[in-house]
Amino acid sequence: MKVELVKTGIEGLDPLIGGGFIKGRTYLVAGETGTGKTIFALNYLLHGAMRGEPGVYLLVDEEYDNFVAGARSFGWDLEILIKRGALSVVTLLPDFVERVKSKPVETIVNSIVESLREEVERIDAQRLVIDPIAPLVVGEEDVVRMREYVRSLLTSIERRLGTTTLITSEVPTGTLKLSRFGVEEFLASGVIVLTLRRVGGRFVRALWVRKMRWRPAEPALYPFEIVPGKGIVVHGDKRLA
Ligand SMILES: Nc1ncnc2c1ncn2[C@@H]1O[C@H](COP(=O)(O)OP(=O)(O)OP(=O)(O)O)[C@@H](O)[C@H]1O
Ligand SMILES: [Mg+2]
Repeated sequence: MKVELVKTGIEGLDPLIGGGFIKGRTYLVAGETGTGKTIFALNYLLHGAMRGEPGVYLLVDEEYDNFVAGARSFGWDLEILIKRGALSVVTLLPDFVERVKSKPVETIVNSIVESLREEVERIDAQRLVIDPIAPLVVGEEDVVRMREYVRSLLTSIERRLGTTTLITSEVPTGTLKLSRFGVEEFLASGVIVLTLRRVGGRFVRALWVRKMRWRPAEPALYPFEIVPGKGIVVHGDKRLA
């Protein structure tokens, strides 16, 4: 059986991951703060939005207006795509955490997935981004509950939304962890780590395909650039390691 692939559209990346993401699966983009996770995620959505694959962006950490203005200063006009129904930027209600705090895991997950489903159906979205996943994880103090929650959220998204989903997770600075909760990487079908490396006395942005289930992908480190108006540009021919 041939798997259906979704092109990330990130310049230079698809050949490094066997052609693209597997349709309907979930992928993790991990990295320390400022490594380019948001730009990566938007790049993925905009590529689809401009090619008849609408996308939903769940904005978690930032105000809607700031986000749209930031993207505009980067050379990306989100509003045109939103008006066209090719993109939807959904924000989490500010009282979300308060409202769900003491509720059972299934109730919280249901409420998130249901509101996403409305948007996904409204614009017939094929792609979904959750950036970052951490603030959705309520009751963080309990490791077992937290992992159960992340697991339940990700499986529920795959089952009920059918989108090809990209989640981002912030790796605590200076650690060797792959994600914030230590469970996202097991649930995801693929993990791409964004990082900064010292090369000859200066810092270079680099990307590492840490895991890509059922796809050929070399465990190598590639330099990339952040280019305004374009997004991420990976130099697959210039391996660093
Ligand atoms: N107009 C621009 N031109 C070049 N580089 C830019 C531009 N705007 C942002 N950047 C670079 O992109 C990086 C930020 O990327 P991004 O916001 O995607 O990081 P992030 O991993 O999502 O960070 P966080 O964890 O804080 O959310 C910045 O560190 C900045 O150097
Ligand atoms: Mg970000």
